Amino acid sequence: MTSNIDYIDKIPNNVDLGRDRVLQRALEHWQPAYMGWWYDMGPTESHNYDVYLRTAISVDPEGWAVFDYVKMPQYRWGIFLVPPTGHREVNFGINKGQPAWQDVPGEYRSMLRRLIVTQGDTEPASVEQQRMLGMCAPSLYDLRNIYQVNVEEGRHLWAMVYLLHRYFGRDGREEAEALLERRSGDVDNPRILGAFNEPTPDWLAFYMFTFFTDRDGKFQLSSLAESGFDPLARTCRFMLTEEAHHMFVGETGVGRIVQRTAELMAQHKIDDPDHVRALGVIDLQTVQKYLNFHYSVTLDLFGGDISSNAASFYTTGLKGRYEETRIDDDHQLSDATYKVGTVKDGRVIDEDIPALNALNERLRDDYIGEVQAGVDRWNKVIEKTGIPFRLRLPHKGFHRQIGNFAGHHISPDGMVMSAEQWNGRRDEWMPSAADYTFVQAMMSGRVVEPGKFANWIAPPRRGIHTQPIDFEYVRFN
Ligand SMILES: [Fe+2]
Ligand SMILES: [Fe+2]
Repeated sequence: MTSNIDYIDKIPNNVDLGRDRVLQRALEHWQPAYMGWWYDMGPTESHNYDVYLRTAISVDPEGWAVFDYVKMPQYRWGIFLVPPTGHREVNFGINKGQPAWQDVPGEYRSMLRRLIVTQGDTEPASVEQQRMLGMCAPSLYDLRNIYQVNVEEGRHLWAMVYLLHRYFGRDGREEAEALLERRSGDVDNPRILGAFNEPTPDWLAFYMFTFFTDRDGKFQLSSLAESGFDPLARTCRFMLTEEAHHMFVGETGVGRIVQRTAELMAQHKIDDPDHVRALGVIDLQTVQKYLNFHYSVTLDLFGGDISSNAASFYTTGLKGRYEETRIDDDHQLSDATYKVGTVKDGRVIDEDIPALNALNERLRDDYIGEVQAGVDRWNKVIEKTGIPFRLRLPHKGFHRQIGNFAGHHISPDGMVMSAEQWNGRRDEWMPSAADYTFVQAMMSGRVVEPGKFANWIAPPRRGIHTQPIDFEYVRFN
């Protein structure tokens, strides 16, 4: 059967899709597979719901955020690149000063494909990780937000698949298919990166994920937005506009949980975690443990502290530093050094290494700075209630599987311990099976009445777009 889908209409885009027949056919072939993936792995039981969603229909300020009820399988997953700027150059590395590439430079083809595939793989992975959570949403407002995040991760997959199809020929098409075949957590065919194979079993984990792990996405996209390969740079720029909402969902979600808990603690004048739990809210110690887990697995996503791959990506001009063009230096890093942490003689020490090899670590440090500011804002929420508890980021070396700290056992305070000592205290620092059971039991049902919220979370300060908090964000039909 031939498809008569009008892709200009069906896939909103600003890449002149209708004028490239080969590309159009390639995407026509991929689209049904994508829809199959969405039906199988997208949010459970959601296909017939009307969801009040934001859809990007163009990149200009009026077009990129149109709000209306949409059935998610009918969401218009478009392809948008921010418009080209005249005379953009490669801004760093050995090719600095050349005109930015509009096509893939042959010698960098496999590196570039790897960068795009690795980024692309995270997008469907998070949808898979979150697919059950709609069944226990704390409100219609939150349900709508997770669906918004999910459809936009789907759009980000489209964005990467567009690049693969448009610029990488047959290999690109094969990679695009493989992106729909890997599965988060699958033993035989897992997603590429570790954190994207971890379960997201409850809403506290979801908010932590969107705060910590979507923010890794932001930093990766930001450094790819500096790329000398112009279509990648322009794609990532536009993806960043959507990513901001995902991090908002995470930050405000955790913020509303700690607010609810701290308010009840103040009201009942209690601080014992068991007493707190007895009130049907999540004790702050458990929030801290989730934080420790999600922070540490996300730090691993930045890769090894000393990395020759990162150096190659930079030197060739494919992946820059965070806000590369705002940094005032030679953008070559020929003589610069950078401090990385490492374990020597039973202690964590700093070591100077060539800055080119430390680019993962540098990006991780930029990320940590931003994450710390978010944790400070959560602490302000707790402080307002008069409760003395404070959340904090564990040491960078805590619970790491990748880089200099892998294989070491480091406490949240940065003490190097034996495996035995560390394992003996593991459940003080990270969610135990009992903690997960407790949190999941609390989130067993879905709150469906407009304006109502589960007991364990405070309402948001305002609704979505211009709608009130008690708006019917999702209609179940
Ligand atoms: Fe994304
Ligand atoms: Fe995201």
